[in-house]
Amino acid sequence: MPIVTFQPSGKTMEIDDATTLREAAHLAGVNVHDRCGGLGACCNCIVTVVDGAEHICPKTVIEEAVFYLDPQDRLSCQCKITGDVTVRVD
Ligand code: FES
Repeated sequence: MPIVTFQPSGKTMEIDDATTLREAAHLAGVNVHDRCGGLGACCNCIVTVVDGAEHICPKTVIEEAVFYLDPQDRLSCQCKITGDVTVRVD
């Protein structure tokens, strides 16, 4: 099962395949500022992918529409995970 590591806290969470980064953060007790409850509407649940980008689904249409996302940034509620990933939450 994939392991997600959250920086800077260093918390880790082992999750099922296809779990989102937002769900993993909740399980780990990490706040990703998900104000819309994962509906893809608030665009606040940004995480920066540090390692394992190849284990995250491609950017969704919702993410592509958010002009202020840096290339390594993702909306955690849109990211399904298939392998180990490390992300930074600011
Ligand atoms: S939780 Fe609102 S866009 Fe992700």
